[in-house]
Amino acid sequence: MDLKQSIEKRTSIRNFTDEKVPVEDLRELVRRAGLAPSVNNYQPWKFYVVTNKQILSKMAVKVSEKIKQLPSNKSIASKNVKSQVEWFATFFENAPAVIAMAMEDYESVLEKGVELSHDEINKMRNFPDMQSAGSAIQNILLSAVDLGYGACWLSAPMMAKEALEEILSIKSPHHLIAFVAVGRASRDLQPKSKKPLDEIFELID
Ligand SMILES: Cc1cc2nc3c(=O)[nH]c(=O)nc-3n(C[C@H](O)[C@H](O)[C@H](O)COP(=O)(O)O)c2cc1C
Repeated sequence: MDLKQSIEKRTSIRNFTDEKVPVEDLRELVRRAGLAPSVNNYQPWKFYVVTNKQILSKMAVKVSEKIKQLPSNKSIASKNVKSQVEWFATFFENAPAVIAMAMEDYESVLEKGVELSHDEINKMRNFPDMQSAGSAIQNILLSAVDLGYGACWLSAPMMAKEALEEILSIKSPHHLIAFVAVGRASRDLQPKSKKPLDEIFELID
């Protein structure tokens, strides 16, 4: 599939068939993620690919527990919101594969020359670490479409970051950033409508 088609066809997939994703395809998705641009070409990422159902369900339990513990404002709406968020944060347990992306802090060139902490510089530079992560994740999403799979980016499970890092044995200096759930879509979904070009394009000539 050409790039334009992959971009236009991509939509978040949250329901999958039971078909396994071959390891070669998972490796190819991660290979393409690793080709993404990153701040100073630091390539701060590491990808933990989980296909073990028991581990996925253990992870989902931790996320559910965390969401249930969130302070609620006792309204009926709050209960509904929590159960909705819980689903969007845990559906990954039914995916044939979950790619967990971890990253380490990059060392900015500035850090060597100014009296500012890594966090201060990172904030000043508008979080190039997270921007780098996004570029790699988008490569996975588009490549999934290219290889005939569906995928969904998830940040909601990060509410249980520490517990998830423990299950996946992700140790410092790496820390968990996001998941991508991957598999064959259980049904074809049309991409969602997006803002018209004229609304998002501004030429400053
Ligand atoms: C940074 C980021 C975090 C996201 N986290 C979640 C998530 O935790 N759970 C989920 O179901 N979808 C998540 N999504 C998917 C978005 O909900 C989805 O991209 C959005 O609704 C637009 O739909 P589309 O991807 O089909 O165009 C996330 C997307 C991004 C970019």
